[in-house]
Amino acid sequence: MVNLSDSKNKSCELLEAQAHIWNHIFNFINSMSLKCAVELGIPEIIHSHPKPITISELNAALSIHPTKAHCLPRLMRLLIHSGFFALAKTNNQNDDNEEEGYVLTNSSKLLLNDNPFSVKPFLLAMLDPVLTKPWNFGSTWFLNDDLTPFDTAHGMSLWDYAGGYPKINNFFNEAMASDSRLLSSILIGEGKEVFDGLNSVVDVGGGTGTAAKAIAKAFPQMECIVLDLPHVVDGIHDTPNLKFVAGNMFHAVPPADAIMLKWILHDWSDQECSKILEQCKKAIKERKGGKVIVIDMVRDNKKGDNEAIETQLFYDMLMMVLVTGKERNEKEWAKLFFDAGFSGYKIIPIMGLRSIIEVYP
Ligand SMILES: C[S@@+](CC[C@H](N)C(=O)[O-])C[C@H]1O[C@@H](n2cnc3c(N)ncnc32)[C@H](O)[C@@H]1O
Repeated sequence: MVNLSDSKNKSCELLEAQAHIWNHIFNFINSMSLKCAVELGIPEIIHSHPKPITISELNAALSIHPTKAHCLPRLMRLLIHSGFFALAKTNNQNDDNEEEGYVLTNSSKLLLNDNPFSVKPFLLAMLDPVLTKPWNFGSTWFLNDDLTPFDTAHGMSLWDYAGGYPKINNFFNEAMASDSRLLSSILIGEGKEVFDGLNSVVDVGGGTGTAAKAIAKAFPQMECIVLDLPHVVDGIHDTPNLKFVAGNMFHAVPPADAIMLKWILHDWSDQECSKILEQCKKAIKERKGGKVIVIDMVRDNKKGDNEAIETQLFYDMLMMVLVTGKERNEKEWAKLFFDAGFSGYKIIPIMGLRSIIEVYP
């Protein structure tokens, strides 16, 4: 005899599994819809409107083609669901017939052009076709001997690609600079003890110098140096306590009291990191109280919610697809530091998904 509740349960399980797969197949629609809204300038329009903006006002402000006007509410509906916009009464009154309009949320405020901490450049760079193309090459890469799926897709490393294509170089550097604006404000605020007693710091792989500029300004007595590849720092002018050096961190790092590595070690394999750390150790060798200041994720720090944990796992995959690196847990960090001959470290978890890690010789 067929047990009806058994077969009902089976159907439920099947349909749940199918829905779960659908959700994952279409996960990219979240990123791409957000990119579309940002490219259209929707956050800017909502921001400059004096009250919640109705759909017809939004259509008009964006000059949406009349044949597409009915599509905009669909884009907005998804982005409300994902927390980027919200609906509010246009007059702030509790009249049931009052029209509703769109407003920004904290997340979309962080995508505005004039927000000093805007994540917009990072979004546009990470979702540029050059950086999304490698995701189509994961399975090919697993079976070949290329270093990264980026290499499989483009025939060269991300760093060489940036050196040869100024558009991507600029996009990438601006993306990093936008992140550094936010991070360095926390670093020189809540994390300022990290710089106590230091007279000099080298920001290795410091990009176009956004973090170093903030540090140089906050600590005018400190000598700051940015070391990065020639295509990144060439043409950037020094200021009294900030110098730019074109070089290769695998070959040499200028001597200083502290070496900062922000979002550097996660780009590289353990073997590559030990070479970078070896140069850092040499650079602080003669300095009393010298240290390396790493700013990166410590994976599995159990404090995060489910979204935070998923984001760390996304970053780990990103480091596998674009470069040769990975996001490390505390055990992996400790092994890296001790294998490179450092004697200890301290994790200061004040950077959200990332941490400051002081590493001592
Ligand atoms: C992920 S970005 C981080 C930039 C910056 N530290 C930040 O967090 O905004 C990595 C940086 O390392 C630089 N880089 C890559 N290879 C390098 C090398 N061999 N020597 C020096 N810098 C390098 C890149 O040009 C890039 O600016």
